[in-house]
Amino acid sequence: MESVWLFGYGSLLWRPGFEHGERVRGFVRGYTRRFWQGSVDHRGTPDNPGRVVTLVEAAGEECWGVVYRIDGQSIAAVLSQLDEREQGGYRRVNIPFVAKDRTHSGELTAVAYFAGPDNPNYLGPASMDSIAGQVRACSGPSGHNVEYVLRLAEALMELNVADEHVFDLANRVADPDGETHD
Ligand code: BEZ
Repeated sequence: MESVWLFGYGSLLWRPGFEHGERVRGFVRGYTRRFWQGSVDHRGTPDNPGRVVTLVEAAGEECWGVVYRIDGQSIAAVLSQLDEREQGGYRRVNIPFVAKDRTHSGELTAVAYFAGPDNPNYLGPASMDSIAGQVRACSGPSGHNVEYVLRLAEALMELNVADEHVFDLANRVADPDGETHD
């Protein structure tokens, strides 16, 4: 049976929202995960965009996450549902994925949603202080931006993946007195 592997490195880690076969932990080479994409339709609004993750090219780095196996007749429906859900600047790319868990090891090709600097909602780099301030101030139809950051950090911890950019941001936005730290 034909199948497709779909790479999850953001919200797909805790909310795939589709039926799938195996879920396999691993990484893509040459990318890192950054809160550089604006969200005007999920975790913010056009007037007050939130910040969500995208893949950013970074030589020598690895971005850890999972792949989901999608089989046969579900493929078209799942991809079209995700195209709709991620229409705020992401496009589908094929990317080599290195599987690293108890049941799988080795390379496979996965589909990933990627939002590059050429999309209209791209925000790009900023200081962690400013990213945290923006996240604290934003919410949208899918919920508060803080919730997105904390859920992502939790999902990565469950996978035993250390991601300093995400954990640093989670610490800043979880700070109950709202103070910022550089
Ligand atoms: C994800 O892999 O979880 C994902 C990230 C950004 C857009 C769509 C999916």
